[in-house]
Amino acid sequence: MYKLLRPLLFLFDAERSHDWVFSFLRLAYRAPGFGPLFRLLYAGRVPALPVDAMGLRFPSPLGLAAGLDKNAQYVRPLMDLGFGWVELGTVTPRPQAGNPKKRLFRIPAHAALINRMGFNNVGIEAFVNNLGKSRGTGIVGVNIGRNKDTPNVRAVEDYVQALKAVAPYSDYVVINISSPNTPGLRDLQEQEALSELLLLLKHEQVALAKSYSVHVPIAVKVAPDLDDEQIATIARLALERKLDAVIATNTTVTRPSMEGVLTAQEDGGLSGRPLKALSTAVIAKLYGYLQGKVTIIGVGGIENADDAWQKLIAGADLLQIYTALVYQGPAVVGRIVRGLARRVKASGCTTLAEAVAKARNELRVTSSQ
Ligand SMILES: Cc1cc2nc3c(=O)[nH]c(=O)nc-3n(C[C@H](O)[C@H](O)[C@H](O)COP(=O)(O)O)c2cc1C
Repeated sequence: MYKLLRPLLFLFDAERSHDWVFSFLRLAYRAPGFGPLFRLLYAGRVPALPVDAMGLRFPSPLGLAAGLDKNAQYVRPLMDLGFGWVELGTVTPRPQAGNPKKRLFRIPAHAALINRMGFNNVGIEAFVNNLGKSRGTGIVGVNIGRNKDTPNVRAVEDYVQALKAVAPYSDYVVINISSPNTPGLRDLQEQEALSELLLLLKHEQVALAKSYSVHVPIAVKVAPDLDDEQIATIARLALERKLDAVIATNTTVTRPSMEGVLTAQEDGGLSGRPLKALSTAVIAKLYGYLQGKVTIIGVGGIENADDAWQKLIAGADLLQIYTALVYQGPAVVGRIVRGLARRVKASGCTTLAEAVAKARNELRVTSSQ
């Protein structure tokens, strides 16, 4: 179905097409029968492949990455499309318009996107109101950020405010310190700033656990453009502060293999195929330090089950996609998870985690020979 729809959507501006698709979905979901049809067509073709991580049972290793449903408006349709879990946001304490349009660009020859959305969102109050309506649909993570006009020295106040507001409605919360489209945000990945941020957020996590009798896992989402020293620092702090997960990675400000591509000159973060190797390298380096003690969610350029498998072997426990959904449509979710399920079966293991551990061991043995 998407094969027919895509050429039409690609005639128009990328953000406008996105808005049309989701306005249509919203309307369609008012009609009885549309949800069950979607579930049958898409979610029904995704095999159960559970993964235990962060104290949660994810029904499938593949979730939706942040940025597509910034305002928590489409949780149910996204679950029906086959995502075992979805990450919403980035949401900031106060509403903000984001950068001027045009701010989302397709690069079809490289199955890539460049975006400089700039955290356009309805703000935490309206977000929580939307989210409350979709409780009980599946695992929901909420990705939080600071407002553009909040200086980094006060960023922690924004994150604490957002964490408190979303915690009762989320299964995990993501601290986004890696979007390239909020000036200065990535500086929060530096040792001193991150150390203080994590200290205060972990403190808040404990306080929230007392109020709600539930531990809300906290993840930090990092950039693919970190050097080795920065990766080592983040990993050390993740271990010291007992962070629940690291999400690797956000979009890149670099332009790998984009020579001669005019659109590549647009400012913003690049996602999709050209990001694949960069993000896998960050996952592998993080895993070298974390060794399974902190969950790694791998994201960046996953297009098929082979890409997904490579990220798992590199060290990821869970995976997310965004750009592949734009290029391949919702059937990509089932294709990837079915491909992973086939690998589990072929390995003779019963769970994905066992199959991945076995493959990692075999790789270690072969490379040490
Ligand atoms: C249009 C667009 C908007 C995005 N917005 C966010 C966001 O608000 N917060 C965030 O953490 N990541 C955001 N991302 C990054 C994605 O979550 C993901 O990390 C990145 O696109 C790499 O995955 P992919 O190659 O599968 O797209 C956005 C990506 C795109 C393409």
